[in-house]
Amino acid sequence: TAKSNTVAQAAGKKYFGSATDNPEFTDAAYLAILSDNTYFGQITPGNSMKWDATEPEQGTFTFSGGDAVVSLAQGNSQLVRGHNCVWYNQLPSWVTSGSWTNATLTAAVQNHCSTLVSHYKGDIWDIINEPFNDDGTWRSDVFYNTMGTYFVDVALIAARAADPNAKLYINDYNIEGTGAKATAMMNLVSNLKSRGIPIDGVGLQGHFIVGEVPTTIQTVMEQFVALGVEVAITELDIRMTLPETDALLEQQKTDYQNVITACNAVAGCVGVTIWDYSEPLTMLTQYSWVPSTFSGQGAACPWDANLIKKPAYDGIIAGF
Ligand code: XIL
Repeated sequence: TAKSNTVAQAAGKKYFGSATDNPEFTDAAYLAILSDNTYFGQITPGNSMKWDATEPEQGTFTFSGGDAVVSLAQGNSQLVRGHNCVWYNQLPSWVTSGSWTNATLTAAVQNHCSTLVSHYKGDIWDIINEPFNDDGTWRSDVFYNTMGTYFVDVALIAARAADPNAKLYINDYNIEGTGAKATAMMNLVSNLKSRGIPIDGVGLQGHFIVGEVPTTIQTVMEQFVALGVEVAITELDIRMTLPETDALLEQQKTDYQNVITACNAVAGCVGVTIWDYSEPLTMLTQYSWVPSTFSGQGAACPWDANLIKKPAYDGIIAGF
């Protein structure tokens, strides 16, 4: 059968990839498929490069979890997507409850991004994650509330200086279809570009529900690309209310295919990453995040809990 990364590259994309992380590396059967670069040409650490994991105390960095992901990828000739530098979630308490001024938080953001991106030099980085609310207003978090929108500039400039070769992205969800949030992201990209702030790409996360994939994905991607950035689907999964039925699995196959087809149709869409490729058998905090995050939902990945390919996998192949 056709292999997802092989097919993606034959279609002119840079990669088809998956999220993963350290807790899963002890599962030999899982690891064998993950490590097959005809399936996955890129991996993203689901948690181990986040702020709470990498700088738990101010100025004290722990790189071991992320290093394990990078060394796995290097051994398998896979690209790494760094994830992420600045996000409101999974922050250590010294960040969320510090008494910051614009100047002190600027220095902390600069140091965090610079240290992370220079340590994990390489391929692609989600520098800013989820900056907007669904209505297109800025998310009220410690960064925005202390620094205004300037936190975006600070992080991107620090990242570019740390690794001039990395592709720097802003990543968000609910920007995969036209609407206020996608428009806000387009306005941000235009604004950054007009001021010469480095920005290379926009990540469309792609956490979808079966039967509810937006029909305007291709349009939105074309609009982003017209602004002079690349785009990627960065965290694709398509969940359903359990139990699985044949009808839901068929709709999910169509949904996966439609997302891939949209990326395939846009030259500036460089790749697709799924937010892990299989399900947990029980409610573990590894593999897909869906069962432990969305009550009653699951079966979001192209492989099932026994690592057997689902119809969704065939949809991916058909889409490229
Ligand atoms: C998720 C991880 O997959 C989970 O293991 C963790 O408990 C919470 O975060 N958007 C993102 C990702 O950008 O970082 C999130 O990852 C999923 C939503």
